Amino acid sequence: MELVEEYLELLKDENYLVEPQRLKRLLEVLLRRQKDLILFSENVKNEHNFSAIIRTCDSVGVLNIYYTYEGSKTKIYNENITMGSHKWVFLHRVQDAVETLTNLKKEGFQIVATRLVGNSIHFREVDYTKPTVVVVGNELDGVSEKVASVADYNVVIPMYGMAQSLNVSVATAVILYEAERQRSQKGMYNKPQLSLEEIKRILQKWAYEDVIREKAP
Ligand SMILES: C[S@@+](CC[C@H](N)C(=O)[O-])C[C@H]1O[C@@H](n2cnc3c(N)ncnc32)[C@H](O)[C@@H]1O
Repeated sequence: MELVEEYLELLKDENYLVEPQRLKRLLEVLLRRQKDLILFSENVKNEHNFSAIIRTCDSVGVLNIYYTYEGSKTKIYNENITMGSHKWVFLHRVQDAVETLTNLKKEGFQIVATRLVGNSIHFREVDYTKPTVVVVGNELDGVSEKVASVADYNVVIPMYGMAQSLNVSVATAVILYEAERQRSQKGMYNKPQLSLEEIKRILQKWAYEDVIREKAP
């Protein structure tokens, strides 16, 4: 039996609001979510950039995005750019980046800061199949020194042109798709990382948002 069919069988007594085909689709996505691959955005200010980051995270299976934001907007993504993907990832705004990253480190995550500095290693030298937090920085200032001080690695994407850096959302996609390449080679998208209880809880939320919130006037 296909994995998704097995899980549908396990969930047959649950009551979700969505049509069976939609439930199957949501479940397929959840079964591939990489709970141990996190994106941390340090004070990315432009809503287009943050929206594109969210969309990439959804695409590679990231479930959790942590971020600091020192701007004044109440919502820093644009739904026309996320194309709905903000509904399928969890956004956690935090006040203290160092404290959050230190706690994630204690939980066993390696911290990979994307930085254009002399001691950065090539981004493909890192093993992203380990529990990993990828940190990206502000459009002007990059990743701060204090955040970099808790990183296990600084990584750089080689630049061969006149521009000194990539757009932050592009850099995010390059790194996360390297993580996807390594993880898919190891079959990590074929083995669910979420427990059945977590899947049930998230499906309740997603189904609610899919049906109720989407159709609310
Ligand atoms: C426009 S860049 C910031 C440039 C800033 N002046 C600096 O020196 O970091 C915004 C973010 O994109 C990511 N980034 C852009 N180009 C990169 C590259 N070639 N290698 C690694 N990260 C990069 C980093 O996360 C960076 O903080």
